[in-house]
This record gives sequence, C-alpha cells and structure tokens, in this order.
Amino acid sequence: MNGKLHSLATRLLDAVDPLLGKPRWYRRELARAVAERGMLADARLQLIEQIHKLAASHRQLADNHQRLADNHQSLADNHQELANRLQALAKDRYRLIDRYLVLLQDCLTGSIYEDPPLNTLGQESFDPVLRQYGWDWPSRAHTMIGRARLANIRTLAERVLREEIPGDFIETGVWRGGACILMRGVLNAFGIHDRRVWLADSFEGLPPPDAGRFPADANDTFHTFVELAVGLEEVKRNFEKYGLLDDQVRFLKGWFRDTLPGAPVERLALLRLDGDMYESTIIALESLYGKLSPGGFVIIDDYHVVEGCRQAVHDFMTAGAIVADLHEIDGVGVYWRKPDGTDSPA
Ligand SMILES: C[S@@+](CC[C@H](N)C(=O)[O-])C[C@H]1O[C@@H](n2cnc3c(N)ncnc32)[C@H](O)[C@@H]1O
Repeated sequence: MNGKLHSLATRLLDAVDPLLGKPRWYRRELARAVAERGMLADARLQLIEQIHKLAASHRQLADNHQRLADNHQSLADNHQELANRLQALAKDRYRLIDRYLVLLQDCLTGSIYEDPPLNTLGQESFDPVLRQYGWDWPSRAHTMIGRARLANIRTLAERVLREEIPGDFIETGVWRGGACILMRGVLNAFGIHDRRVWLADSFEGLPPPDAGRFPADANDTFHTFVELAVGLEEVKRNFEKYGLLDDQVRFLKGWFRDTLPGAPVERLALLRLDGDMYESTIIALESLYGKLSPGGFVIIDDYHVVEGCRQAVHDFMTAGAIVADLHEIDGVGVYWRKPDGTDSPA
C-alpha cells in the first residue's frame, strides 16, 4: 500500500514538477487550454444529442411520408372507384332516358295499345306498318306522324342538345300535339329548363285555299276534314296526361299568316313544319327560318306526299339562294340542317 501511494505521489510530482519551473503565463495558457478542451467536449456531447434528435425527426418524417403515400394511394383508389361509379350512373341514366322516351313514343303513336285508325282513309284496324310510316290517322293516339318521323324528332332534338345549338323547338301544325309532347319530353328527360316548345296552330283545322295568292293550293281540300280540327284545350289536356304542361310550353293560336310573322319566338334550334299546304309551309319558312340558329334543323313532314308543300320548300330555297342537302326520313318527310359556316357534315 505504501508502495502504491508512493508511486502515485511520485507520478503527480513528476507531472507538476515540470510546471513549477514554468513561467506563470505558461501555466495560465495551459489552464485555459484545459478549460477549452472541457467546453469542446460539452459541445461535442450537445452535437451528438442534436444528431440523435435529428435522426428521430427524420424517422418521424419518413413515417409521415409513408402515411401520406398510403393516403394518396387510397385516395387514388377512391377516385377511380368514384369515376367508375359515375360512368355506370351515366350509362344507367341514359338507359332510363331511353326507356322513358321509347315508351313515350309508343304511347304517342298509339302503338303500345294498338290504337285503331280513324276510317277517314279507309283503314279500320291497327296496322303496325301503317303506324310506322304515319300512313293512317289514329283514332285516339296523340300524333299521326308515325313512329319513324317521331323518332326523327327525338334524334334531332338530342343532337341539338348534345351539340348545344341554341334555341327553342317549334312545330307549325300540331293537331293533337303529340310531336310537341315528345319535344317537351326530350327536354324533360335531359333536365333542360332554358328552352321552350312552341305550338303554332289554328286549333280549328286548315284554312280554305287562297288560290289567288297561293295557286299551288287551288285544289286543296284539307280544310274540309273536321278530323284535323283539334281545339287548344284538348291539346293542353293531352300535355297534362304526360305531366308535361308547364311554362316551357307556349301556344301560338291562329292562322299562320296572322301569328307567325310577328311571333315572340327569339331563336330556334328545331323548326318542324307540318301544315300540309303550300301557304302553311311557305309562311312558316318565311317567318321562322331567319330565327333558326346555324346548325339547327328544319323538318318538313309532308315533303313527299303534298305537292304544294314540296313546291313551297323549293320556292323558298330558290328565293333565298339556300343550298342544303335534304335528308330522307321515311319516304314521307325530309329534313335539312341550316349551314353553320363550318365544314362539319350535316
Ligand atoms: C297534319 S296536322 C299536324 C299533325 C301533327 N304534327 C301530329 O303530330 O300529328 C296539320 C295541322 O296543321 C294545322 N294547320 C295547317 N295549316 C295551318 C295554318 N295555315 N294556320 C294554322 N294552322 C294550320 C291544322 O290545324 C292541323 O292541326
């Protein structure tokens, strides 16, 4: 034990001894160096602590990043699922619209309950072929234009909506209102609230021919058919039966020569003429064609079956230098598209 103490004391003296002979400034510098070394050691410890903290934050950030990536993935999955659902819904919506409109068309032509014809034209029982082409006059159904020309209204009305051609729809010569009920039905099915359906008619049948002004009508006898005179109230009731009478439906009651030239119609996308006679056709074209939007459609119901009607169309086109391709519908009616100044095919 004494030996150990002795050696420790000797080592201490050996360490101190060289200093005792040194000058004071040397011992001061040495003490400062020792102190600085201690501070450096502390700083090193602090740095190590900081590094540990940073590493922990980094791990936390990595965890968060992973969580965000997981969320992002599940959001992307949800988004895809929603997009799929929306697509399925859109398909389903159109399927329902189609079912509604097909049913509406079948009701309006009377095909669904095999409505027999009026025997004015000589038929007595329901014939699906006659009803297809509108070659009979139904006894109760709400339109006489037949399935093909009714389907044509729907096709063109949907095209107007799809291509956003501005304007209302009009028919001049509505009889029981069926074609216009379909026009309103199309707007209803697609939830369109900013277009109107106009019905122009005397609601008393056709006018006697004015052979002086319109020689092509000289031998016309349509005014003698009482079956063609359907009152305004009856037409309104027909709309009500389908739940389609509202302020998007407008009536222009009177002879076309009185109602159409100053009609409060601003813009049209669909112009359907079914007034049979030369007078009725030419007055409708002269009064309304200028209001038809470019890209809008003109339908002539009687083009191939009433010579006066066909002649009126050609006189109007010649006078207005209108060049347009006439499209066949069903061997009776035709339609054309008002040129819109683009190269898109009609
Ligand atoms: C063949 S029917 C129309 C058929 C109808 N579009 C349908 O869907 O069944 C002809 C209609 O045109 C009307 N009409 C014809 N010429 C007219 C004119 N100059 N003024 C007013 N109404 C007219 C008649 O009153 C009649 O209702």
